Amino acid sequence: MNGTRSDEAWWKNAVVYQIYPRSFADANGDGVGDIPGMLAHLDHVRDLGADAVWVSPIFRSPMADAGYDISDYCDIDPLFGTLGDAQRLIDEAHARGLRLLLDFVPNHTSDQHPWFLDSRSSRASPRRDWYIWRDEPNDWRAALGAGSAWTWDEKSGQYYLHFFLPQQPDLNWRNPEVVEAMHGVLRFWLDRGVDGFRIDVAHCTGKDPTFADHPRCLAGEPLADFNDQPYSHEVLRGIRRLVDSYPGERILVGEVNIRSTASVVQYYGAGDELHMSFNFPPLDAPWDPVVFRTCIREVDALLRPADAWPTWVLSNHDNVRHRSRYGGSLRRARAAAILLLSLRGTPFLFQGEELGLEDALVDPQRQVDPGGRDGCRAPIPWTAAPPHGWEGAPPWLPFPPDPASHSAQRQWADPGSILHLYRQALAVRKASPALRLGDWEEIDSPPEVLAFRRRRGDDVRLVCVNFAAQPRRFHPPGDWRIALCSDGQAPGSRFRGELAGEHAVVLEPGAET
Ligand code: NOJ
Repeated sequence: MNGTRSDEAWWKNAVVYQIYPRSFADANGDGVGDIPGMLAHLDHVRDLGADAVWVSPIFRSPMADAGYDISDYCDIDPLFGTLGDAQRLIDEAHARGLRLLLDFVPNHTSDQHPWFLDSRSSRASPRRDWYIWRDEPNDWRAALGAGSAWTWDEKSGQYYLHFFLPQQPDLNWRNPEVVEAMHGVLRFWLDRGVDGFRIDVAHCTGKDPTFADHPRCLAGEPLADFNDQPYSHEVLRGIRRLVDSYPGERILVGEVNIRSTASVVQYYGAGDELHMSFNFPPLDAPWDPVVFRTCIREVDALLRPADAWPTWVLSNHDNVRHRSRYGGSLRRARAAAILLLSLRGTPFLFQGEELGLEDALVDPQRQVDPGGRDGCRAPIPWTAAPPHGWEGAPPWLPFPPDPASHSAQRQWADPGSILHLYRQALAVRKASPALRLGDWEEIDSPPEVLAFRRRRGDDVRLVCVNFAAQPRRFHPPGDWRIALCSDGQAPGSRFRGELAGEHAVVLEPGAET
């Protein structure tokens, strides 16, 4: 073991920034982001104060699911660059003190992966059993609106299983050759210095061996939304042993996209599966104190006793951006930044949330994603003047609303911008052991105010978020001064118990400075 239970573990202290490669930055002018583009803007991530970057898939792919359909795990898609570029990305991230996590997609390959081409070539193929073939389908349903999870293969006369698109056949992890091949993929990248992996649908590799119909599928739900089989844990334990055999603290963050915190906790195992699992209820949550209070209480009640370190995320490449979810309100997005960055657990930021971006409006003719997720994948506006840093061919998706005023250039120049609020929130968190690692305890407050204390040793912070549109009075006992405020009030002034509408504060003990 690599001391992963220690409070000093880097990943417990970290804030992770998600790069969605297609939309981050384009260096070669083809309208799609690439690794040289990432290299050109890594300083943005460092200057923001993030500690690690998670890069969504950059591997060879026919792009039926924007890179989550991989045809070669050990090569880079030419759209994004070369293996040399990937090595430079790892090295340049490290040179800036940033850790780098890659996306590992174990559940399925592309239907163009040589393994699948071989598997489907004939029933006698030595790789036939690398995928899941059946004579009869059951009622399992695929995600991304793909209908049945089974597709008929005319040539070999059987159905193959795919929890996502038909172009994403599911691997059979019960076959030891698959385990060995996929472990080889992990070794390939670990040997090149990556600090760990975000594991795509980590709860999906184990399938019900009886292939029983499921009533939730009959009711139209995709199996990937609730698949929860013991064998996925076995798969994760094998991956964890491999990762732990490497020097340094390499980590696994799993996407366990079942909206049940009680089930998600199981994927931490006994400290021998995931280091962290995404906790998805806040990704759906509206701007509502009851929903947030319930989510946060539940995470604390279920994860703390299991010694499972929480994660917090409000936006990613699969969901409507939280500012859009909150009705487009910048005030709410600013308050949410303070909430996200002061909870107990590792926060994950999605590129562009630090710029307060909303989802782009994508005309039906321009839609790319079969799952309808284009809005949050819009390109990042870097410069105020068009084409906003995307020279050459127009970007593959339209910009989010009002790209000039949301551009990184404008916002770095404006100390009152949401970008600087994120930067300050990251700095305030970094400077406070209570905010990074301390206990979380809710404190009595008016119903529309969420208030909690973070404490570690002598270090204490209070966080108050007023969800109401109108001001609320709330005065916790003692003397408190403002360490950070979402309405831009200068730090150091005394907190007088007044919370502006839809604003949040971090308070530190003491009189005015
Ligand atoms: C989850 C990923 O985040 C999503 O983008 C993808 O479509 C599915 N897994 C399938 O890989």
